[in-house]
Amino acid sequence: AAIQYHDFVVQETPVKRLCRTKNVITVNGQFPGPTLEVSDGDTLVIKVLNNARYNVTIHWHGILQLGTPWADGPDRITQCPIQPEASYTYQFTIIEQEGTLWWHAHSRWLRATVYGALLIHPKFGSSYPFPVPKLEIPILLGQWWNGDIISILNQATFSGGAPNVSNAYTINGQPGDLYRCSRKDTMRFYVENGDRILLRVINSALNQQLFFTIADHKLTVVGVDALYIKPFTTTTIMLGPGQTTDVILVADQAPGYYYMAARAYESAQNAPFDGSTTTAILAYKYAPCSGQIGTPLKPILPRLPDYNDSATVIAFTSQLKSPSKVEVPTFITEDLFFAIGLGLVNCNPGPTCKGPNNTRFAASMNNVSFVLPQTTSLLQAHYQNIPNVFTTDFPPIPPLPFDYTGNVPRALWQPVSGTKLYKLKFGSQVQIVLQDTTIVSTEDHPVHLHGHHFYIVGQGFGNFNPGTDTVNFNLEDPPQRNTVNVPVGGWSAIRFVANNPGVWLMHCHIDSHLTWGFAMSFLVENGPGKLESIEAPPLDLPPC
Ligand code: C2O
Repeated sequence: AAIQYHDFVVQETPVKRLCRTKNVITVNGQFPGPTLEVSDGDTLVIKVLNNARYNVTIHWHGILQLGTPWADGPDRITQCPIQPEASYTYQFTIIEQEGTLWWHAHSRWLRATVYGALLIHPKFGSSYPFPVPKLEIPILLGQWWNGDIISILNQATFSGGAPNVSNAYTINGQPGDLYRCSRKDTMRFYVENGDRILLRVINSALNQQLFFTIADHKLTVVGVDALYIKPFTTTTIMLGPGQTTDVILVADQAPGYYYMAARAYESAQNAPFDGSTTTAILAYKYAPCSGQIGTPLKPILPRLPDYNDSATVIAFTSQLKSPSKVEVPTFITEDLFFAIGLGLVNCNPGPTCKGPNNTRFAASMNNVSFVLPQTTSLLQAHYQNIPNVFTTDFPPIPPLPFDYTGNVPRALWQPVSGTKLYKLKFGSQVQIVLQDTTIVSTEDHPVHLHGHHFYIVGQGFGNFNPGTDTVNFNLEDPPQRNTVNVPVGGWSAIRFVANNPGVWLMHCHIDSHLTWGFAMSFLVENGPGKLESIEAPPLDLPPC
């Protein structure tokens, strides 16, 4: 195992997209940011210097952070942000993880442009559970706005309307041929006939679930969220924000030019969204030209599912299985039921209230809309016994059960606000049923848990029924992930062992929903032995 040192300089950088230049926040002037390539067992030491004018933190999405919960990164959860002109050095070790993860800013909406791939190779001497590919290509799907991202965030937060519709989707930062002024920068990936390629696809979009496909090629899915799955072949994959999918692509078509493309998956009938398509080109070396010297043939466009094609999504997700029988927790000691979704709260009278009937959006879990602490982080408050920062009364079940997928009484549209944690004893075997509520549902909720992987043991539509649904749980070979899509008007059930002491955020990875309060945190207590307990966090964490 090696120690890798990196410098991340967070700075403002002019970037030209869609015919205009604007300043965005980047790491080292790169958009997307630098790719980190490590091996299982390596230690990463990353010094983040903040040369921008916003507070920032960096989160290593999907890294378990065993023994180093303070290095996780979410703003005010495990640390205070790195202020302008300050720096902070993250240090953590990759322990028994391999596959595709990513890193991103975890304060306000800075991750719109502050993100990059984090690729974990197998330890020296071990290999993939599939033939070694000739090429590995990270594919970062993103979302681009012409406007300033912090103004757009403020609009979504304070005016309480739906968030601004984005102006483009991107592949590795580039919108691609179908957008204005973008053709010459379209990403091209060169392959040779017969190549086996590992595509490491990451949905780093701020607010949008995305379909991804490649014209005339099959995709063999081999992993999700840096966890292997039983391989299966498909033409289209769907990723919620935060999720990653590893696919093997074989360049087995006639030498030519083929588009890979991504666009929105959105079950909404009436909410506005960006319906555009981003493309990049899979270019075979030695492909014929169009006849004019140096002019390639026009790339072939793939067929993408309709934006609201849930059937394709269900068919895709139901094929995700662990490679073999796994040990799913079966002696559940914490049986939790979280009603999740969007609601509305009355606005203080004012000109900026743009939700339906003079309301603004709020989001909640079990009717609690999550509020970040101000003076310190939850992790530090816990280990340093700082009072009045949080309470541990997050409700394990909804305060008032109702017909979650029916018409919801108006009184239930109004969540309470609070910084409420749920305490888990070390070693707890946890089941959480995440039940979507159809109050103002327009999209699935990709719910992400920090510090743990979980098994997705079941998924369905309508109200979860413990009697009939539990018996159908897959306790044999369910897939493991760190981010689960909870379908609109349905539910997902997950299980995990709380074996990582610390404070861990659970939230919707659609940032507009997170901003509206769609989050909660678990406080996993120390275990009996030295190895399972955390002493105080380091003293050099940034001050608030
Ligand atoms: Cu990818 Cu809480 O984050």
